[in-house]
Amino acid sequence: MAKIHAAITAVNGYVPDYVLTNHELETMVDTNDEWITTRTGIKERRILKGEGLGTSDMAVPAVNGLLEKRGITADEIDLIIFCTSTPDRVFPATANILADKIGAKNAWGYDLQATCSGFLFGLATGSQFIESGKHKKVLVVGGDKMSSMIDYRDRATCIIFGDGCGAALLEPNTEGNGIIDSVLKSDGSGVPFLHQKAGGSMRPTTHETVDNREHYLYQEGQSVFKFAVTNMAEVAAEVMERNNLTSDDIAWLVPHQANKRIIDATAVRTGVSPDKVVINIERYGNTTNGTLPLCLWEWENKFKKGDNIILAAFGGGFTWGALYLKWAY
Ligand code: UT7
Repeated sequence: MAKIHAAITAVNGYVPDYVLTNHELETMVDTNDEWITTRTGIKERRILKGEGLGTSDMAVPAVNGLLEKRGITADEIDLIIFCTSTPDRVFPATANILADKIGAKNAWGYDLQATCSGFLFGLATGSQFIESGKHKKVLVVGGDKMSSMIDYRDRATCIIFGDGCGAALLEPNTEGNGIIDSVLKSDGSGVPFLHQKAGGSMRPTTHETVDNREHYLYQEGQSVFKFAVTNMAEVAAEVMERNNLTSDDIAWLVPHQANKRIIDATAVRTGVSPDKVVINIERYGNTTNGTLPLCLWEWENKFKKGDNIILAAFGGGFTWGALYLKWAY
């Protein structure tokens, strides 16, 4: 019997309407368009405005559009893996909230927290349920409302992040297409360089933590940069080497969108030419769990059946990884 691979059979994305430009940021913190553009490659990012709206509110249009594209209904979904670092609530899981909002009555689900590598870990995890034969339709959602944890007085972080969400459907494939391999890593010694100081069980929210602005994302950018620039490139190269792929075999490199300089370094290390590297950071910034599915969504029409695609990511934690898939449609 032919091996079952988990193949992506539909992708979709959603970004909020509000565009926060570098020029608007110039009015908020001591920064300028030239610095942001040359140091990060970002020109603008989207922000989810509106009282009471959370990450699931971006997932609903992304997933509903996906279901329409695929021509299926929500009750056909078996499992929802919601990859996010900004869940609607600490509990219950945003996967449950989403399932209720879209009417996925037969799905179970859970949230996956692996910061910017979340969607990649979600694809790798979700593929196991397909390969085992246990499930037929696994929805992997990646999204974040980063504006909910960004300090718009901190110029080192507020210029990078944006809001957005995307989703991919995994289904069984016996033609040899789908997710072929992945290399997944994490290292908790990276915690000091990128974390949220308060709001968890270790340091619950109090008036004092809020006054100290400890509920915002904290990052030591240079340390994270050094780690990311080496490790994302290495892990992408590793998954290629162990599948005997050279840069000529790769149709597309889909990297996490954190900094254009990190993306460029990954392209150089893997030898993939710039015209095969998927980049939309200039329009969305770093949407954390949203970057990879938003890239897949925007490039979907350029992908061809059988294309060898490498996804690569890294994030706080630290977490990082690369995944090799053959596009299935
Ligand atoms: O996906 C999650 C993982 N996170 C990342 O991948 C982020 C990785 N890190 C980075 O992308 C970069 O480190 C940053 C974009 C965050 C910062 O770029 P950098 O080239 O590492 O800048 P830096 O922190 O070394 O700062 C250089 C200078 C400093 O001034 P002095 O000390 O040289 O006078 C900063 O104060 O740039 C200054 N600076 C700014 N200037 C204008 C820092 N932020 C800004 C700003 N506008 N927004």
